[in-house]
Amino acid sequence: MDGDLDQILITPQAISQRLDALALEMSAVLPGENLVLMPVLTGGLVFAADLMRRLPNRLTVACVNASSYAGARTHSSGNVRLTGLETARAAVRGKHVLLVDDILDTGLTLSALQGALAASGALSIRTCVLLRKDRPQASAFPVDFCAFDIPDAFVVGYGLDFNGLYRNLPCIATLTPQAIASGMADTKEQEKPA
Ligand code: PRP
Repeated sequence: MDGDLDQILITPQAISQRLDALALEMSAVLPGENLVLMPVLTGGLVFAADLMRRLPNRLTVACVNASSYAGARTHSSGNVRLTGLETARAAVRGKHVLLVDDILDTGLTLSALQGALAASGALSIRTCVLLRKDRPQASAFPVDFCAFDIPDAFVVGYGLDFNGLYRNLPCIATLTPQAIASGMADTKEQEKPA
């Protein structure tokens, strides 16, 4: 898998150090009671797990699933599908919510989630992302907490995938053009009619 990586943008050590500082900053601002941390699956899984263990706040955890990069894509499809919403809505009633996602790209995912949870009786909804891409849509979207600003490149690792792979990498990296082409080809092959 390491042979598929082009450039390592953020090392595991840099992630760990930044999360220590971010959690300190967040714990001072987040409410000490009635807090629900909501990982946005699947990408937000690794970040949320590492972040929540650094937060001393009294909190509960409820997950929600959002999907927009179907198959071997390197850009959002623009269509966000939310699942697990009923459970999520019940979990946020009368609570302060912290949505935790891996990356802010177009902002459509967090926007759809904020919209879906707004009418569910949440006391407040805050957002936290590991990565924010350097593109106008991402810069214009107001997030409460962001760990890293990155170039507008397609990245994998630490929860982020390409075609379902690379989520388990401990770093954030770009892929070689060959790895991307091979992932695209695999998907086309699977999509061929039998
Ligand atoms: C990715 C990522 C974010 C979202 C960001 O999810 O995990 O949730 O896209 O893009 P946006 O700002 O343009 O909405 P994806 O749909 O790939 O699902 P995944 O979390 O299962 O990988």
